[in-house]
Amino acid sequence: MISYLKARGTYVLFNSNGIALTAKRGQALIDAGLDEYRLSMDGATRETYAHVRGVDAFDKIWRNIRAFVAMQKERNASKPAVSLWFTAMRENLHELEGLVDLAYENGISEIHLQRLVYFEQGLAHSKQSLFRRSTREELELVRHCEQRCQERGITFTAAGSATPLESLIRADFFRDGDRPWSGCRRPYTLTYITSSGNVLSCCFAPFGHKSAKEYQQDRVIGNIFQEPIEAIWRGERYEAFRRAFESDHPAKHCSQCGLNWSY
Ligand SMILES: C[S@@+](CC[C@H](N)C(=O)[O-])C[C@H]1O[C@@H](n2cnc3c(N)ncnc32)[C@H](O)[C@@H]1O
Ligand code: SF4
Repeated sequence: MISYLKARGTYVLFNSNGIALTAKRGQALIDAGLDEYRLSMDGATRETYAHVRGVDAFDKIWRNIRAFVAMQKERNASKPAVSLWFTAMRENLHELEGLVDLAYENGISEIHLQRLVYFEQGLAHSKQSLFRRSTREELELVRHCEQRCQERGITFTAAGSATPLESLIRADFFRDGDRPWSGCRRPYTLTYITSSGNVLSCCFAPFGHKSAKEYQQDRVIGNIFQEPIEAIWRGERYEAFRRAFESDHPAKHCSQCGLNWSY
């Protein structure tokens, strides 16, 4: 897939938990011309990682990623750019500083602070969230890590155009009750296609539905194996989704954006 997309001139990236990043696969990713490899890393210790992700794989992942970065150096490969994606929550924020040091020691030059999206299912719940609920100490910690990244030449990013600190407070996004989702531009700028061809509004849309029927009716806008993407993008269902987005009654999955998490 990566080679196919690169042959078409596309910028290619993906996020991964890194568990299956063997030397052979790493070699293949470099050969295929992958532009970015975003490693999900929700802690700086084995214990916290296992607690947050539900799998005791911290040591294996770091062995994999160290070997991958070393292979890139050996081959003088400038791509893919490797970054760490840290989903910030109550249980792991105290390890962000340690993660900055881990990144620095391992020659990784970007950390992304991901805000938690939750639907009270699986491992993600509102009680873990920091968005609009961070304590003064938690915000100070993020500010400190911004500074630490700057000192170590690490780029520290967050969702949207916000800085990491802004992405957790961002009350200026909206006034309560005033269409908190409305600043999101995804309905006009991107789409999300699953491996079965279903077209959804964004990567939040596959989650939080109560039934397969609801998913099909409210989330799936079209299917690229049945209709060309251009027709879906400009079609009635997408337009109806966009009209709802501009009204007081957006799709259910949009209605929590900006309110429970930043978009
Ligand atoms: C679609 S996920 C990629 C999943 C990938 N297979 C993995 O295991 O990391 C994209 C990014 O969102 C992060 N993520 C996972 N759960 C999340 C959640 N509940 N809220 C926000 N971000 C989350 C992951 O760490 C990942 O880097
Ligand atoms: S669910 Fe949120 S991020 Fe996705 S299109 Fe709707 S407002 Fe935007």
